[in-house]
Amino acid sequence: MVTAKNPFKPTAGARPPMLVGRAELREDFAESISNGAGAPGLLSIYSGPRGIGKTVMLGEIEDEAIEHGWMVISETATKGLVQRIGAAVQAAKEEFIEGPAGRRITGFTVGPFSLESSAPEKREMHWRRTLTELLQELNSHGTGLLITVDEIHAIDRDNLAEIAAVVQHMIREDLPIGLAFAGLPKAVEDLLNEGVSTFLRRAEKYDLHSASIEEVASAFRQTFSESGVVATEERIQQLAEATGGYPFLIQLVGYHVWSQAVRDGHEVTQKALTAGLAKARRRMGATVVESAYRSLSVIDQSYLLAMAEDEGPSKTSEIAQRLGVTQVYGGQYRLRLLAAGIIEVAGHGQVSFAVPTLREFLREQPGYKAVVHDPLGGVTSAD
Ligand SMILES: Nc1ncnc2c1ncn2[C@@H]1O[C@H](COP(=O)(O)OP(=O)(O)OP(=O)(O)O)[C@@H](O)[C@H]1O
Ligand SMILES: [Mg+2]
Repeated sequence: MVTAKNPFKPTAGARPPMLVGRAELREDFAESISNGAGAPGLLSIYSGPRGIGKTVMLGEIEDEAIEHGWMVISETATKGLVQRIGAAVQAAKEEFIEGPAGRRITGFTVGPFSLESSAPEKREMHWRRTLTELLQELNSHGTGLLITVDEIHAIDRDNLAEIAAVVQHMIREDLPIGLAFAGLPKAVEDLLNEGVSTFLRRAEKYDLHSASIEEVASAFRQTFSESGVVATEERIQQLAEATGGYPFLIQLVGYHVWSQAVRDGHEVTQKALTAGLAKARRRMGATVVESAYRSLSVIDQSYLLAMAEDEGPSKTSEIAQRLGVTQVYGGQYRLRLLAAGIIEVAGHGQVSFAVPTLREFLREQPGYKAVVHDPLGGVTSAD
């Protein structure tokens, strides 16, 4: 056998062997890049629940930008974001003068004194001027600069306002700049509604969803066959269905079934399929689901536990009743869970889990069906 390396990538942010269901989004972005300065897609926000592929999507458009000869600054919204962008712009400018475009500037670290010590307005002026010069230079060579910021739900509001103001200014000057964000849906929505920047509200918004089972099947078919693992059409279909089209699970199922199949003579036997699927679901529980669940308060966890009693979407009125709280009060839990990207709205007055296998996971928790049903409203225990 030629290959011994598992092609699947069940790791946050890791590029999958085949990108499922995002071709159109990438094409949209490619078109915007071709249209250049001022194209609407050059200001984009990708949102979606945990593990849906936001970070990977940013990577895709970064590649697209690089293929078009653009420069890319790839960032995450953690402390010191603006300083890092400012420093990266400076580095990009130096690099462009020395070398060709089509580079990605990542993980740039800033010296402790240089930028933090200057006053905010001065600092803004500083990187704004450098950015203008860089963009003018890139423009004259027919290219531009893309800045991506991941995990935007965690962004410091002042940082966001500053980045938005500077980028808006560049767009007004007709300079070739792209700005793309990714974050959890409800939190991003709140951020835009807070009025930090009306400019950002005009961004193209893409809500990332699970892929279709057909697309997953076709990705599995190709990836298994290219890596020397035999699978019948029926098993490919079974595997695809088991993922529900959810990107993280596509990688987990692919990874574990592939690894079992290799032990079984490079074939997805029934045994490999069953064992691989079980392992993938366990890993899903132990990674994405568990960490998302543990990061919640006990109160918010109780809302999820109450939801797990349903087989499908839950009525918010019934959940409030199960928890013994008023609907208004229950609505507060609901909002926090939506912001965390763990549940999603499923039609009027209903919510469902945004992450697969969460229901099974919750049903195994000690708190399941042990939630206190307080007839008096439970407000005291919640404060
Ligand atoms: N379009 C896709 N097709 C196949 N696999 C994908 C796709 N997008 C993402 N994945 C895989 O799904 C997993 C999660 O992707 P990613 O880390 O981008 O999600 P995320 O939305 O950024 O998650 P989080 O909210 O935790 O940051 C990774 O293993 C990645 O390889
Ligand atoms: Mg991510």
